Amino acid sequence: MIHQIVSYVNYWLNEVNAHSLQAPFIYNLYTKYIQSDDNRQDFEAIEKTRKKLQNSPLLVTPANWGATSTVHPNATKANVSVIAKKGLTKPKISRLLARLMSYNDSKQVVELGTSFGLNTLYMAQKSDSHITTFEGSKEIADIALTNFEFFERENIELITGNIDEELPRFTNSRIRIDFAYIDANHRYEPTIKYFNQLLKRMHDDSIIVLDDIYWSKEMTQAWNTIKEHPQVTHSIDLFEVGIVFFKPDLSKTHYTLMF
Ligand SMILES: C[S@@+](CC[C@H](N)C(=O)[O-])C[C@H]1O[C@@H](n2cnc3c(N)ncnc32)[C@H](O)[C@@H]1O
Repeated sequence: MIHQIVSYVNYWLNEVNAHSLQAPFIYNLYTKYIQSDDNRQDFEAIEKTRKKLQNSPLLVTPANWGATSTVHPNATKANVSVIAKKGLTKPKISRLLARLMSYNDSKQVVELGTSFGLNTLYMAQKSDSHITTFEGSKEIADIALTNFEFFERENIELITGNIDEELPRFTNSRIRIDFAYIDANHRYEPTIKYFNQLLKRMHDDSIIVLDDIYWSKEMTQAWNTIKEHPQVTHSIDLFEVGIVFFKPDLSKTHYTLMF
């Protein structure tokens, strides 16, 4: 908690807005896709499903691989309602991911950490995209599958199992990934391992978003390592998420932007 407060103060002291941005690439991206939160109405039906889950009486068995959140640490059973209230990507971030996908016209998308599939549904709204999403808990994945069926989404593939084993199998195929969202095992080692595995399948216009970059010291360390990676040219800190780009024609720059 102290780490999060100190990190927020640091972010707040460093954040800048559009007035401070000179380069066309970042100015355009920030003003048109990051700052302009204009796609809320596209996702109202998904938000109704979130409300239902927040009132669900069901219990599920969470996956116990590494830190996921403070919502169900080492619990054998967790309340669906509590996960739906506290353990999911916020709608504001899901809307941002959808806008970033339209920015680089993402077709092949990977999400690490499906949970109930709400964020997946946001991303799958782009009908010419294909989302491969990974979830370790069979019971949580079953709820996600029910949601995908309800929304009649056919552009989602859910892989159930430990990402440590499933992701290398996936990235060993020759797939080209346009967009990846990492929101699963919130520890340093797995996060870096997943980043490096995804990187093999990225191209110059790909984007990776890392969630919860100040959730713990380990996550901040992972974010710092990712930012410094030689293939990362631009990195953007929005406090709740970090975004990285690999465009070879850009010189390495880091931005802390108001969001
Ligand atoms: C924070 S939640 C994802 C929330 C999701 N992005 C959303 O808002 O709809 C993280 C999920 O990752 C899963 N997870 C964590 N570590 C995992 C691992 N090693 N393999 C597979 N799934 C894992 C957890 O079971 C949990 O459901």
